[in-house]
Amino acid sequence: MKPFFIALAVIAVIFVCIVVAGALMIRKKEAPPIPLTANLRGRIAIVVYSQSKVRNTAEVAEWIRKNTGGDMFSLEMETPYPEPYSETLKAASKDISEGKHPALVDVPDLSGYDIVFLGSPIWYGTYAPPVATFLDSDKLAGKVVAPFCTHGGGGAGHFFADLRKECPEARILDGLVIRGSNQIERRLGVGVTSHHTENDVITWLNSLFPADGPQPQGEQK
Ligand SMILES: Cc1cc2nc3c(=O)[nH]c(=O)nc-3n(C[C@H](O)[C@H](O)[C@H](O)COP(=O)(O)O)c2cc1C
Repeated sequence: MKPFFIALAVIAVIFVCIVVAGALMIRKKEAPPIPLTANLRGRIAIVVYSQSKVRNTAEVAEWIRKNTGGDMFSLEMETPYPEPYSETLKAASKDISEGKHPALVDVPDLSGYDIVFLGSPIWYGTYAPPVATFLDSDKLAGKVVAPFCTHGGGGAGHFFADLRKECPEARILDGLVIRGSNQIERRLGVGVTSHHTENDVITWLNSLFPADGPQPQGEQK
């Protein structure tokens, strides 16, 4: 009987540890806002694709909108990727390996905009296929482009290099890399707000668009 109670106690301890770890992960990071000193000259658009239910990239786009006053354009696919996660992985992997750029409901008209914030989740080390479709339209030629991405722990991969190659006529600035969700976090609904705060966006904006001196700064090589 004694081993049974020991095993039960061990299971109970493991269960409590998992619950506490989960609660800590889900907790939102909080910090008092830092001052926004950036001074962006020109009309601003934010173009974003976000796929998961956690909406990581959309959340970062909203932080950018709040601090720049830009106009938001969300890229929507004519036929969205299927849920669950395993199905999304399969469909996205097929599109990427076949170089397929899926149709969008609408491609935003960016004439009249000077600065474009472009956001995507990292999929297999680069931007997601709907963003590739958007880039096909050549809407970024002649614009200042500030790219941003969210990822599941693997970093930005070759997102920025691919973007530069695809848009040689755009001026591409240093990008913002934000930790989103890995597979487990995605299930738990844990995303950018558990790893970052709006201050990361403000710090980035302040460094790219200083109030004094030449701007924008931080051109991506
Ligand atoms: C098809 C697919 C491929 C992914 N590939 C990567 C990857 O290569 N590296 C990485 O760190 N995360 C990868 N992720 C995780 C996403 O980048 C991460 O969850 C992101 O924050 C999701 O953003 P969203 O909520 O805006 O869709 C992948 C997710 C999916 C669905």
